[in-house]
This record gives sequence, C-alpha cells and structure tokens, in this order.
Amino acid sequence: MDWGLRNRLARMFPEVSGNTVMLAVDHGYFMGPTRRLENPRATITPLAPYADALAVTRGVLRTSVAPGTTTPIVLRVSGGATILKEDLSHETITTSMDEALRLNASAVALSIFVGAAHEHESLTNLAQLVDDGESVGMPVMAITAVGKELEKRDARYLALACRVAAELGAHLVKTYYCDDFSKVVEGCPVPLVVAGGPKLDSDRAALELAHGAIAEGARGVDMGRNIWQSDHPVAMLKSLRAIVHDRATVDEAYRILEQERARVPPVGDRPVAA
Ligand code: R5P
Repeated sequence: MDWGLRNRLARMFPEVSGNTVMLAVDHGYFMGPTRRLENPRATITPLAPYADALAVTRGVLRTSVAPGTTTPIVLRVSGGATILKEDLSHETITTSMDEALRLNASAVALSIFVGAAHEHESLTNLAQLVDDGESVGMPVMAITAVGKELEKRDARYLALACRVAAELGAHLVKTYYCDDFSKVVEGCPVPLVVAGGPKLDSDRAALELAHGAIAEGARGVDMGRNIWQSDHPVAMLKSLRAIVHDRATVDEAYRILEQERARVPPVGDRPVAA
C-alpha cells in the first residue's frame, strides 16, 4: 500500500486507539434537509472538533465546513437517487477523483446495494473507484446501503455485502450493527465501521449499539442521526469517543453524557418559518 494512502487512513484512525469516530453528515444527498441537519453549517461547526473524520458531500463541504478545519474529510462520491423514488439503488459516481484530490479528501465513500435492482452498477462503480483511488493514494470506503429495506440488516446479509466490498478492493467498509455482528467482522478482512441508522429511542441505546460493535470487532463508528438528532450532540460525541477510543463501558460513557447534560442546555429544533 502506498505511503500516501496509508497516511490518509492513519489520519482517520488516530494512534490513540487505532479506531475512529466519524461524524456522518451526508444524509442530504438523498434525504434533503433532514431534522436537525437543516442548516449543515450550524450542525457541523460545533461537532467537527470532536470527530476523527467528517463524512460529507462536496456541496456541504464547500458551503458549510470551514476550510481551516483539521478534521479529515470522507467525501461521499455516489448519488443520483432520492427518497421520492422507490429504488434508492440507482446511484452513479457523482464526484471525480480529481475533485476529491482538489478538496483534500482523506477518503472517498460510495454506497453499494447488494441484492438490489442496481447491484451490478454499484459494485462495478466500487471496483472502478478502487482502481482510481489506488492510482492516486486515495482510500475507498464502501457503504453497505439497504435503501428503504431496513429489515435487511442481519448478519447473513451484511456479512455477504461486506465481504463483497472487501473482495472488490474497498479499503474500509461502513455497515450496520446487528445480532451476531462478530460473524460480519470475521468474514471481512478490512476495517469495519458502523452507522447508527435512524434515531433510536434513547441516547443510551445508541451508546449500547456502539459498545456492542466495538466489543465485537468494529474499528469505529460513522454515526449521524443518533448524534445530531440528540438533544446533546457534543456530549454524545464525547461519550462515543470514550467507548471507541478508551474502551469505556456503556455506564461509564453514559456518565459522561449525564455530566454534560447537567452543564449544557439541550439543543432544540430549528424554528419553522411562519
Ligand atoms: C446515509 O446517508 C449515509 O451513509 C449515512 O452516513 C449513514 O447512514 C450514517 O448515518 P446514520 O448514523 O444517521 O445512519
């Protein structure tokens, strides 16, 4: 592996633990102005200093992330479908490798849709992106997307999807946590990070998810809604860092959250214009 590619990976997986806490703020590319990510800059600015990487599109990067940021960028480069259509798998590569280099990305990310209508295109897009990435030292993160079929998130399906991504050359894979997650880890020879999925019932449930994932071999989280839809997003990030980097228990991480809750008022929803 080239030094440049290894250096980019190392920046996202800091030496303190070799794991990562990525902040996912790329949802608008197919969901539009999601709750509490309506104004990307307002959501991202206070959180970026606590993240090991920011997962964004080029549009949000250019408009809403300070160019002086030192937080590594995982640039989403796939898209082309929205929640207004049934088939979310109809994606293509939307951002070139030259653009990723100009934007000083530390990795590029695309969704793969194993078993979906456009499985073939998404997998060949991944293979091409890996070829392009290898030629310039850019890591590629494959995201095992399930579109609207959230029930697909079980170990059998995710193990298959993650393994396919690794076989096609992805340098890391983002997937979902599930029962028997260790089987997914075992079959995937590159690092796995987990998404949070839709907001869970409580902040503690999100910490439990992260703790389970790390205990079973994930190398980190790439979480969005369970952080910035929380009433205490900075505290959530600090608590997740404790789990991912310091191997804190759920109780220990939750105490960090409670301390911050006692100190900092909750963020509210943005007022809806009259
Ligand atoms: C989809 O928009 C992206 O891949 C998200 O980055 C991913 O789903 C992680 O975000 P969340 O934790 O909100 O699921």
